[in-house]
Amino acid sequence: MILLKSAADLRRFVLNQKEKGQLIGFVPTMGALHQGHISLIERSRKECSVTICSIFVNPTQFNNPEDFKKYPITIEKDIDMLEHRGCDVLFLPDAAEIYPPGFIKLHYELGYLETLLEGKYRPGHFQGVCQVVDRLLEIVMPHKLYLGQKDYQQCMVLSKLVKDKYNDTQIIICPTLRENDGLAMSSRNLRLNSVQRQAAVEIYNTLIYLKKHLRPGSLEELKKEANRQLSSHRFKIDYIDIADAGTLSPVDTWNGQQQLVALVAAFLDDIRLIDNMVLN
Ligand code: PAJ
Repeated sequence: MILLKSAADLRRFVLNQKEKGQLIGFVPTMGALHQGHISLIERSRKECSVTICSIFVNPTQFNNPEDFKKYPITIEKDIDMLEHRGCDVLFLPDAAEIYPPGFIKLHYELGYLETLLEGKYRPGHFQGVCQVVDRLLEIVMPHKLYLGQKDYQQCMVLSKLVKDKYNDTQIIICPTLRENDGLAMSSRNLRLNSVQRQAAVEIYNTLIYLKKHLRPGSLEELKKEANRQLSSHRFKIDYIDIADAGTLSPVDTWNGQQQLVALVAAFLDDIRLIDNMVLN
């Protein structure tokens, strides 16, 4: 695996590969890699001739400075994992490489997507995600960009960015990988102590409950019951919502046909976890 720290070096590498007709797959991450990240790398390896992974803990997408400070960093282990799983290039920039002096932070028109769910509870978060991914795409210019469904709303936001600015890049959304008990894999799971880890699975159980009890008509009682269940397991809930799977607009009454996704964000002490599930 080639390790590159400079944007200019990576750009040169990519241009060279493209001249040779290679198909470039890109997996952006913030490190503390787990099997979920690796599944994206593996998908890219199947579909592309060169797989590039980036690790950069992007400060501009953390609306909570404490969350940024405590974000797990396991770089040695990450490099090891990527090497063993056949990643071709690791881009490991420092902040000055991504946001060089004089870098102008654009504002991204994300419309209503920024006003609900993660957008509402993490003001500025998606602006930060767009800033970094825009910059990364400018450098990497991949044919395929691999994202996880685990971050459902992020996939929608980045689909908009790519549609608006990167016509030659195709987005591939990959399924959420889970631990044996159903907990969605996440870098933040590393911060859970054993009591919190045991409780954490209740997010998954709540999503399964919603899926199992979904009936046409009002969804109010169902959402309330899900709220009660999750709260009873020590969670402080930001939201449990059911939305149109294509647009993310909230659905209060289901006509029995519309495709729905349930989305959850909740805290165990100071650790914020998110998950989602397509319900039908
Ligand atoms: P990070 O949380 O490191 O996730 C990197 C990619 O891995 C994202 O596309 C995410 O959806 C995917 N992923 C995370 N957990 C997963 C799981 N359990 N199963 C499958 N895929 C999973 O998302 C980010 O970083 C950042 O916002 C980033 C896009 C890199 C911009 O900074």
